[in-house]
Amino acid sequence: DSKETGTLADWLQHATHATILTGAGMSTESDIPDFRSKEGWWNRVDPRTVATPEALQNHYDLFHEFYAMRIKRIKSCTPHTGYNILADWEKNGLIQAISTQNVDGFHTRAGNEHVYELHGSLHQFRCAHCARPSSEKQFLNKENCQHCGGHLRPGVVLFGETLPEDSWKASLAHIRRSDLVIVIGTSLKVYPASELPNMTEGKTVYINAEVDHPNTRFDLVIKGKAGEVLQQVNAFVTST
Ligand code: NAD
Ligand code: APR
Repeated sequence: DSKETGTLADWLQHATHATILTGAGMSTESDIPDFRSKEGWWNRVDPRTVATPEALQNHYDLFHEFYAMRIKRIKSCTPHTGYNILADWEKNGLIQAISTQNVDGFHTRAGNEHVYELHGSLHQFRCAHCARPSSEKQFLNKENCQHCGGHLRPGVVLFGETLPEDSWKASLAHIRRSDLVIVIGTSLKVYPASELPNMTEGKTVYINAEVDHPNTRFDLVIKGKAGEVLQQVNAFVTST
């Protein structure tokens, strides 16, 4: 409601270092499903059969089909207004960085420069065996590694795999020095990204479509859609 979005606009304008943490809920208004909502990916596909190193190793066809389908889905979608607002906020110095669990590359595509991809990206490809870099074209054509003949994979973090060191470290550094952390569109169910909001001394805000348990750990909770809430907050920001 306007009291909450007005408060967030005020905190945003007074913050000296603001970091955003996003999840799949940031992209559902761009028509990309999230994972754990009723129409999310994990209610259609068992993640263990497609999003694990075991899946990559033992049933490559299912693994390939899942990620090829997601790549094609992303190509037919565009970042919504909420993404453009976050890009404006970075340009105007209101936010300093975005740490995202998403692999769609939409924050970068919308114009943000300081984006840290905690779970990798669907825009990079490599050989699963020898790690030689590859291309989307070769992956979508289901070609094998030209160097060793191994299977190709996207540069996303699979369950159980470790996060990219540089993205994790940069995210942690921004979160630690932030006096405002805004978490948008994530169920916070996946470790270690889920721990980031606990690692700041600053004010914490949670913007999400579903707010199940009372989020005691947030200073402000706004139940709503990312794109809509960001537009409401932005209306206050641009009016002052
Ligand atoms: P996991 O097996 O990867 O768990 C990660 C490790 O963290 C385990 O040792 C677990 O015991 C430990 N852990 C979990 N919660 C913790 C907490 N709150 N505090 C301390 N330790 C904790 O299990 P997962 O949660 O299913 O997957 C998370 C991993 O999967 C992460 O590495 C993440 O980057 C990756 N991941 C993959 C995908 C994908 O779709 N491919 C998506 C998101 C995350
Ligand atoms: N606006 C705000 N919140 C939304 C919207 C929206 N338009 N649409 C969905 N949500 C909320 C959902 O209610 C849900 O709580 O966003 C959250 C998305 O949570 P998940 O589907 O669990 O996605 P995420 O938190 O990003 O998952 C973390 O799990 O499998 C991995 O790789 C996957 O990186 C992902 C990780």
